Amino acid sequence: MFGARCLLRFLRSCSSAPCPRHKPSAKLSVRDALGTQNASGERVKVQGWIRSVRSQKEILFLHVNDGSSLESLQVVADSSFDSRELAFGSSVEVQGQLVKSLSKRQNVELKAEKIEVVGNCDAKDSGFVHIHTPIITSNDCEGAGELFQVKPSSKIKVPEENFFNVPVFLTVSGQLHLEVMSGAFTQVFTFGPTFRAENSQSRRHLAEFYMVEAEISFLESLQDLMQVVEGLFKTTTMTVLSNCPEDVELCHKFIAPGQKDRLEHMLKNNFLIISYTEAVEILKQASQNFTFTPEWGADLHTEHEKYLVKHCGDIPVFVINYPLALKPFYMRDNEDSPQHTVAAVDLLVPGVGELFGGSLREERYHFLEQRLARSGLTEAYQWYLDLRRFGSVPHGGFGMGFERYLQCILGIDNIKDVIPFPRFTHSCLL
Ligand code: 4AD
Ligand code: MG
Repeated sequence: MFGARCLLRFLRSCSSAPCPRHKPSAKLSVRDALGTQNASGERVKVQGWIRSVRSQKEILFLHVNDGSSLESLQVVADSSFDSRELAFGSSVEVQGQLVKSLSKRQNVELKAEKIEVVGNCDAKDSGFVHIHTPIITSNDCEGAGELFQVKPSSKIKVPEENFFNVPVFLTVSGQLHLEVMSGAFTQVFTFGPTFRAENSQSRRHLAEFYMVEAEISFLESLQDLMQVVEGLFKTTTMTVLSNCPEDVELCHKFIAPGQKDRLEHMLKNNFLIISYTEAVEILKQASQNFTFTPEWGADLHTEHEKYLVKHCGDIPVFVINYPLALKPFYMRDNEDSPQHTVAAVDLLVPGVGELFGGSLREERYHFLEQRLARSGLTEAYQWYLDLRRFGSVPHGGFGMGFERYLQCILGIDNIKDVIPFPRFTHSCLL
């Protein structure tokens, strides 16, 4: 999974350069530190993550938590400490004196003498927080009904009819859970198995695949979203090429001669952007005969996507603003007419077609309420609607199929050849 490591590294952007270790001295958990009675300047060491930073003229307050207590320990440091180093999310080791706090909010605080950043987390740059989203879920994020239902294999004794009281499924996307978490951490991502009961034996569909998904709060335009996508693709690919040249060259040499040049061509050019409406016009004017006749309002098929990428000179191309009727309830309404579209974006790449799918999310309560009502989903998604009632912000995100990414960079024609044990319709061998 060399590509996976590079992907995760890009999204985390939190370096974890080890710091020199010191001789352990009176190490305390945050819980034990907070529980100390009559603190009188004992020298202690606490390790944890910075939960907040408040910088005043001559003094710096940090709240540090190590998971042992719901409350954080207040660390007081003087201005000689560099507050830029001490960012939210960074892990630190603080040594100092445990003293009685002057504030009524806490009993004790730690007067810092030494603070070591163990792993910095520059949340101001592109630090995305990794969330493990559920694999078993009760929602159908994509609304496409391509779900595998999960049930106990034998009758077990539970008072209710279902194990979970509601029907549950293997996840088709962690997006809705990420939207919840982006309200707390601003930028989040997940990387995990994803399941689709699509009746397809195509060269780019699996029943079980891996997807990397990201969600970003305060994101207001597709332009900004596309920048993150292009950055993710290019940075990850360059990291793979420089860290694992032998593996990549092996594939290129024996499976896809010429792929190295094609990849370099993708990396050195700016990705293109066309609207769905323009894409349909290009397809209509094509001399090629398609199995599915292109027309406004119909989905783009693989044959269309591959043609569009060729037409764009084999440079990845973003197709934006798809018809509202084609896309799931969560995509932001562009309020245009007569051709009603949503702020959706797909990235099409040579040889594969769609690699990324994303959108701005409908953050406006009344718009979302109406969309859900029209689809009969109001009850099931009340919790999702509630996210728009309490401090809603513009946000957006995307998902990228990991096996399709490997196909794209390695030049492998069939998705079943990039993983061991591929599972797809009529095939689950072991
Ligand atoms: O376009 P999709 O369906 O988008 C979503 O699931 C969004 N909820 C993601 C988000 O915004 N957080 O799927 C995203 C990507 C596709 O572009 C494709 O690369 C991959 O997942 N994918 C598949 N890969 C292999 N086999 C399948 N059956 C796939 N279905 C989707
Ligand atoms: Mg899609």
